[in-house]
Amino acid sequence: MIYLLMTGKELLLHAQKNKYAVGAFNVNNMEIIQAIMGAAEELNSPVILQASQGGLKYAGVEYIAALGKLAANSSKLPVALHLDHGTDFEQVMQCIRHGFSSVMIDGSRFPLEENIAFTKRVVEIAHMVGVTVEAELGKIGGTEDHITVSEKDATFTNPVEAKRFVEETGVDYLAIAVGTAHGVYQGEPKIDYDRIKKIRNTVDVPLVLHGSSGVSEESLKKAVECGICKINIDTDIRASFARAVKEYIKENPDQIDPRKILKPATESMKKTIMEKMKIFGSVNKG
Ligand code: G3H
Ligand code: ZN
Repeated sequence: MIYLLMTGKELLLHAQKNKYAVGAFNVNNMEIIQAIMGAAEELNSPVILQASQGGLKYAGVEYIAALGKLAANSSKLPVALHLDHGTDFEQVMQCIRHGFSSVMIDGSRFPLEENIAFTKRVVEIAHMVGVTVEAELGKIGGTEDHITVSEKDATFTNPVEAKRFVEETGVDYLAIAVGTAHGVYQGEPKIDYDRIKKIRNTVDVPLVLHGSSGVSEESLKKAVECGICKINIDTDIRASFARAVKEYIKENPDQIDPRKILKPATESMKKTIMEKMKIFGSVNKG
């Protein structure tokens, strides 16, 4: 069987050239993948399906890989399957072995030299088998599954270090810390747009914004204008799912059929994802 997954690099270079961002949406099960693909089809948008370590632990790498490949094979759109926040070498290799077309190696917990060496090792191996790589420089705050970075430990990406990091690691796209954080915000985050522009001017690889749920439409559009090409969304999809399930159960307390309970949740997630794709400017770029 030929899998039609594209690499993250292919999708993101097109986005960079045409000044939009590709949504990278976190997946944990079939319904989320169906919601994402339904949104992408309706809007003719490229899309990145990404699984965090928590997602892989929940569903199993085999299930996520099979669902991701099926999604790409059933669509004419550009689709990439990406590991989100991989923190160990073994897990990255496992995802590559199961057919992921893109991986993130997150060495942001290490000092610069170590992050460079750690990332470089993954890049060299991933590139040998045609898989492209995202890495993180600086420390994005908040909680993403089991990774927590407190407000005081979060550090913004230094543009000079970014140049060195990209040159020495050969990484394909770079996650930068510019004021967003994972999870639910208490108030509107303050994004350092000048920093995005500075980094954009010092490195030529596509830039990635994490912790993008709860960020206003205006701020996301501005981030894209400044040079962001990949936008990660997880929390807003979870909230959309939970809202719809709670509402349905409240109105139908005797319902026991999972299909009936999950259908409105899938529809709700699809709607949320479509709103994001419109903001990112990826509509009709498929
Ligand atoms: O890596 C995933 C994202 O950065 C998701 O962040 O949960 O704030 O949308 P979020
Ligand atoms: Zn993230």
